[in-house]
Amino acid sequence: MEEKRNVTMEKIVNLCKSRGIIFPGSEIYGGMGNTWDYGPIGVEIKNNVKKAWWKRFVQESENSFGVDAAILMNSRVWDASGHTASFSDPKMDCKECKTRHRADNLIEAHSKGTVNPDLMSNEEMEQYIKEHNVACPKCGKSNFTPIRQFNMMFETSRGVTDENQNKIYLRPETAQGEFVNFLNVQRTTRAKVPFGIAQIGKAFRNEITPGNFIFRTIEFEQMEHQWFCKEGTDGEYYNFFKEKAWEFLVDLGIDKDHLRYKDHDKLAHYARAACDIQYLFPIGWSELNGIHNRTNYDLSRHQEYSGKSMEYIDPVNNERYVPYVVEYSIGADRLMLAVLSEAYEEEKLENGDTRVVMHFHPAIAAYKVAVLPLQKNLGEKAKEIYKKLSKDFMCTYDEAGSIGKRYRRQDEIGTPFCITIDFDTLENDTVTVRDRDTMSQIRLSVDELPDFISKAIKF
Ligand code: GAP
Repeated sequence: MEEKRNVTMEKIVNLCKSRGIIFPGSEIYGGMGNTWDYGPIGVEIKNNVKKAWWKRFVQESENSFGVDAAILMNSRVWDASGHTASFSDPKMDCKECKTRHRADNLIEAHSKGTVNPDLMSNEEMEQYIKEHNVACPKCGKSNFTPIRQFNMMFETSRGVTDENQNKIYLRPETAQGEFVNFLNVQRTTRAKVPFGIAQIGKAFRNEITPGNFIFRTIEFEQMEHQWFCKEGTDGEYYNFFKEKAWEFLVDLGIDKDHLRYKDHDKLAHYARAACDIQYLFPIGWSELNGIHNRTNYDLSRHQEYSGKSMEYIDPVNNERYVPYVVEYSIGADRLMLAVLSEAYEEEKLENGDTRVVMHFHPAIAAYKVAVLPLQKNLGEKAKEIYKKLSKDFMCTYDEAGSIGKRYRRQDEIGTPFCITIDFDTLENDTVTVRDRDTMSQIRLSVDELPDFISKAIKF
């Protein structure tokens, strides 16, 4: 499908910066490449995205349980998971301008997606790049070093003296926190297989080519859910989570024409199936989330490396087995970028003006309501209503500028309802409620507002 929307990455970045959604990290020091700080509006939206995910994958999911594991884990975890040995990307340096690139990305961009580098060895990738004179995206020359594998884990050390330092890592994924707690969760909840463990938390990757705003960063948040099941049922659950992942995105307001499944052509040696859901970002179709049938590889490896049995004992027939895992994983920041891209619209109005409006699902919007006194001398009544509503909802208050300008400001941050206090409010305790998307207005009594808002923001 061709991109028809008028959203671009530049517009999103500018809006985010000017409206307090996302700022460049450490900005007053000239920034820190590919780090981003969420501002007052952004933190609310991201928290709402995470809340919606948790509601869907934990609260409403019978037999799924949450954890919040430590970021710093015993380094044996990363030996068992395979990250110390092979969590790496094929990097090449441009000998001319000294920039670093991923060989697979160079090939993908050069071939416009017609060649799949996942199916190539390092030698084959080097050969392709030479034969096709693939150019450096920075300087345009084609003069690269051979490929070297580059481990993406951030290392740090732990120890109280300089001589006694142990190498540890910032976790590159949250998933291992769920695997190592498999037995703890199973025993304490008395869960029967199949059951799930979910987690939301930070992950860190020393990416060779971070970029595209919050699409690929070196520090990001993941929302992961591992479903532990018996071999033989894994295929059915894999399909189930593919559908559940899709449904969650559509319910969040993402147009299904902007989503597609992409099966992995090359599977890890232990995996039975893997696919991504791609989203039509302003940069083109790219991975938004992944679903993986990982067999019993993860728990078996932890069993081997820790020496602790990871077997589940079926209480009905005493059968012992190491469960299979169907993993569902999505980046909170990447989902945030999808939600921002999806919501953005430059709408031409009848009077010839253009308004920028963010059509967030009301559950995701930072503020549910903006309280606006028509004139400053209505401020006392407006403040009273603001105070009342803010006990239950995130609200904002604005009395500066014309009412039209104030509506536009709220449209740009996606506030679903503007409540205007006028002189009739003093007489009969009613207000006008303006809908962000249709711009239509209705009149409601102040008492009706909590119910009206609650219904509208339900996810
Ligand atoms: N435990 C499986 C796992 O981590 P992954 O495909 O490497 O799988 C899962 O990552 C999701 O995390 C991706 O689909 C993406 O949404 C997000 N993600 C991965 N790397 C990221 C990065 N550098 N910046 C932002 N999000 C990232």
